[in-house]
Amino acid sequence: MDVTVVGSCNMDLSTYAPRFPKPGETMIGHKYVVGFGGKGANQCVSAVRLGCKTAMVGKVGNDDNGNKTINNFKSNGVITDYMAVTDQSSTGIAAITIADTGENSIVIVPGANLLLTDVDVTALEDMIKGSKVVVCQLEVGLSATLETLKLARKHNVRCILNTAPAQSGLSNDFFVLSDILCANENEAEMMTGLPVSDVAQAEAAIDVLLGKGCQYAIITLGEKGTVFASQDNRKPTYIPATKVKAVDTTGAGDAFVGSLAFYLATRPDLTFENAIQRSSIIASISVQSPGTQYSYPWRKDLQPELFE
Ligand code: RIB
Ligand code: NA
Repeated sequence: MDVTVVGSCNMDLSTYAPRFPKPGETMIGHKYVVGFGGKGANQCVSAVRLGCKTAMVGKVGNDDNGNKTINNFKSNGVITDYMAVTDQSSTGIAAITIADTGENSIVIVPGANLLLTDVDVTALEDMIKGSKVVVCQLEVGLSATLETLKLARKHNVRCILNTAPAQSGLSNDFFVLSDILCANENEAEMMTGLPVSDVAQAEAAIDVLLGKGCQYAIITLGEKGTVFASQDNRKPTYIPATKVKAVDTTGAGDAFVGSLAFYLATRPDLTFENAIQRSSIIASISVQSPGTQYSYPWRKDLQPELFE
């Protein structure tokens, strides 16, 4: 396997409105779209569309949304042999509001995602061992994510931990076991206790994250770009973002993580910096059209230079 994602699947219920409603307010929105989401699923679909062998490890409910989720993976070319269906809970749901500025706010009801645990992941040790890159987040049972990190480390498999959604008080193990830790501004603030809204602040936060033990730390700052550093080279590198008009930033971080997994798995000849550059270009394409997975590009639609 090139890329294995251990993570969440949600049905995204997206409402587009002029702005976010105030507490107690009823507003009229522009449109409503149901689409496939979940951070893990998005990262998986983003990677597979770039053209690599990709598998999803996740849990959905025994319901219509669960069936549709698995069919959606199949139609994208994702290997679904490691997906589980449970009778104990329903498929995850994300209620998303997108304002005219392109910003979003999300409430998740995780459902079956939380029933993915270390027990499920332990059973897939060989599969993780045989993957070039493994990707995980914090949107499933945390024991599943921790076990993924442990197995990846045990077998020397490159592993990206996307620390989303933001959690405070994440145990030390998550940092020490992370090869590549990727956080957005909110998540970086919550994990470091520092303000993170510009490049200089992100550089300071990167140092704190590396101090917690991950090998590489990446902070994505949306339209302000990306900063990363590693244990071997703690001097942060800043990569500006391409200027684009954002209509919907939902899942842009997932497009970035999925693309990075693709490049690390298939292009070991690229520098880490170049892999990040290319991934952020792909993420910037996704913000220019509505939806999460709907807006992720396929390889055939991208400029050939991204694959040279
Ligand atoms: O990162 C975007 C995703 O977060 C959405 O697809 C939603 O399902 C939530 O998981
Ligand atoms: Na989008």
